[in-house]
Amino acid sequence: MMMMSRTATRAAAARSMITTIVGPRYFSTTTTPPAASVDQAAAAAAKTIIPGSGNHIRGGAMAGFVRFPFTGGMRQASTVALDAEEKVKPSEESSPAPGGGSAGGGADEKGIVSYWGVQPKKVTKEDGTAWKWSCFMPWETYQADLSIDLEKHHAPSTFLDKFAYWTVKSLRWPTDIFFQRRYGCRAMMLETVAAVPGMVGGMLLHCKSLRRFEQSGGWIKALLEEAENERMHLMTFMEVVKPRWYERALVFAVQGVFFNAYFLTYILSPKLAHRIVGYLEEEAIHSYTEFLKEIDNGNIKNVPAPAIAIDYWRMPPDSTLRDVVTVVRADEAHHRDVNHFASDIHYQGRELKEAPAPVGYH
Ligand SMILES: [Fe+2]
Ligand SMILES: [Fe+2]
Repeated sequence: MMMMSRTATRAAAARSMITTIVGPRYFSTTTTPPAASVDQAAAAAAKTIIPGSGNHIRGGAMAGFVRFPFTGGMRQASTVALDAEEKVKPSEESSPAPGGGSAGGGADEKGIVSYWGVQPKKVTKEDGTAWKWSCFMPWETYQADLSIDLEKHHAPSTFLDKFAYWTVKSLRWPTDIFFQRRYGCRAMMLETVAAVPGMVGGMLLHCKSLRRFEQSGGWIKALLEEAENERMHLMTFMEVVKPRWYERALVFAVQGVFFNAYFLTYILSPKLAHRIVGYLEEEAIHSYTEFLKEIDNGNIKNVPAPAIAIDYWRMPPDSTLRDVVTVVRADEAHHRDVNHFASDIHYQGRELKEAPAPVGYH
């Protein structure tokens, strides 16, 4: 009797698992709600976020993982478009869900079926609503520190400092000419470059740690965090501006050159590499300040903030593009400090691992 009961329980569990994996659309006779309804549900879920109120689950509070409840075709509630000049079509029309990678697939995708039992973790917010991003998790979100000094500047004194400073300054002229005052597009394009140094530096420190059988002092993580943070800037601005074909081509070419140039520079002189990034970040702060001026004088429409930004920076639900640019600028100021600090450590003839890394320094 006990044996039969266990067998029945296992069979029921197996049925439940299969239904979960391949989805009710294969086994249920109920009608799938139209896409618009699902979109509305997603939008309603997005509006339940209360800024900085603990609606977001922190790492230690993740005991309540439940299965990913998204059905295929549900889209993120994100998306706003800048203006006609800054352009393009809303991402609802052209891009897959930003969360990217729901195993259920969209209306025009086949579901991914596997018997390996690998299940994405199901995450909910503290209010019980579903976490709708798979590209970042609640414990990776934070509130930007807007009190950081935006004016700090490392005065170049050595030859290498001056070389770094003027290299960055010289890169600004073609950038100004190319983008003019299209700051939304400029931000999006420059973030494709800004996310490279942290990854290259982190990768090289990782390999060095393996080669030398030594700790990194947390710098691998700090630099990779910076790369991820910059990539999230890109994911945010992608929601506001869409690249044209020739801009995509430009990113392709620039990444090929910049990745290799920075890789070689970091191997030859990490203090120069970090100093260059420090100055790049100073320029980024300047660009975002100009971006804010354009919003304030009405040349760029202050559209609602994308949903991905509201969740990532734990912003109020009624936040706008201006708020997004403000928190991104604060991030850049933190990157500036981290990279000038790293360069200074090398200048003192020390190794990065000798100074604990500013992990989580946003
Ligand atoms: Fe950035
Ligand atoms: Fe940055």
